[in-house]
Amino acid sequence: MSVIDDRLLENLRRWRRDLHRRPELSFEEHETTAYIRRQLDEWDVPYSRPLPTGAVAHLRGRRPGPVVVVRCDIDGLPIQEETKCEFASMVPDRMHACGHDAHTAVALGLIALLTGLRDQIYGEVRVLFQPAEETLPSGAEALIKTGALDGARAVVGLHVLSDLDVGAISLRDGPIMASDDRFTVHVQGAGGHGAHPHQTVDALLIASTLVGELHTLLGRRISALQPAVLSIGTFHAGTAYNIIPGSADLSGTVRTFDEDVRVRIRDGILALSTHHARAHGAEAKVEYVYGTPPVVNHPPLVELLRPAAEAVVGPAHVLRRPPRMGGEDFAFYGRVAPSVFAHVGARNPAIGADFPHHHPRFSIDERCLEIGLGFLLEAVRRCSWTPDALASIPRAAPPA
Ligand code: NI
Repeated sequence: MSVIDDRLLENLRRWRRDLHRRPELSFEEHETTAYIRRQLDEWDVPYSRPLPTGAVAHLRGRRPGPVVVVRCDIDGLPIQEETKCEFASMVPDRMHACGHDAHTAVALGLIALLTGLRDQIYGEVRVLFQPAEETLPSGAEALIKTGALDGARAVVGLHVLSDLDVGAISLRDGPIMASDDRFTVHVQGAGGHGAHPHQTVDALLIASTLVGELHTLLGRRISALQPAVLSIGTFHAGTAYNIIPGSADLSGTVRTFDEDVRVRIRDGILALSTHHARAHGAEAKVEYVYGTPPVVNHPPLVELLRPAAEAVVGPAHVLRRPPRMGGEDFAFYGRVAPSVFAHVGARNPAIGADFPHHHPRFSIDERCLEIGLGFLLEAVRRCSWTPDALASIPRAAPPA
């Protein structure tokens, strides 16, 4: 880690704090993009801009070799920050409450280091500053469609975590984060007077019993050995205490690690909603939107990169944490090339860095910046310092 000197560490913190002050929402990261471009221009690093926001930096070695992609995400969230830190967000209702400011700073740090190590690189190290991780459809899908991943032989990414102690890295093969799908159900009945329910088709009652029915899908249609979550997040119906609503709307999310389970839950929601509504004289219209697939770490690439994590934090601090039900659009890259997504600990209760992600008081222990950068540099070394480092990595990503 000796290549990360004090000046670079100071820069890492400065970049992260500058970005933290000016968070921007998904696909609106214009100032953030300008900030990144200024740095890249200063270092004379070529980059492309396949989307209106974000950038793709190309660090090409002088000798042929694989294209190794490193990805960071750059967007913030619509949250009013409630930390008291000196570099808190200056933009009302906008906050880097997921740590993407840290990811962007780490990616800049990697480029700063690689500009001095270009003679070592075989092929190309391509650094994605990806917009819009937090929305559907997401920035990863959009970037892939532009061809930004063309030729990629391996993709590496990381996320800081406020529930993993700073000083630890979690690296695990197979599925590590769940798919993230969204559905809505519109129940159409016939409204009327609260005093005369027999003259109506009570959409509120039908939709409310449907909520309970939908939850039976996991317990009775999906094996107990297959992790899955179904949550209803919104329910809207009615205007006054004495009016029976003619329609009701609900929406929810489905999380799982398995494509077959995903399809069976989707089909179950469609069938159950339709038949449940019909049984009560109403109609249900269901929309099911496939969001991000599960994040699946490519086992041979994990084996190649585990020593990279061990070199930074020591073998005892490289963990294999259980998979998480959260979603992450890094998943799409795993469908293009073998990919590895690492979780980098940022938790430190002594400084209040233990609030959940997307919380108004979310914060990180900034020591995670050096660790994240160390891991990415060690990963790049293992993929790009020799022409055939990835020769043993099968090209096909495992099925999700
Ligand atoms: Ni995030």
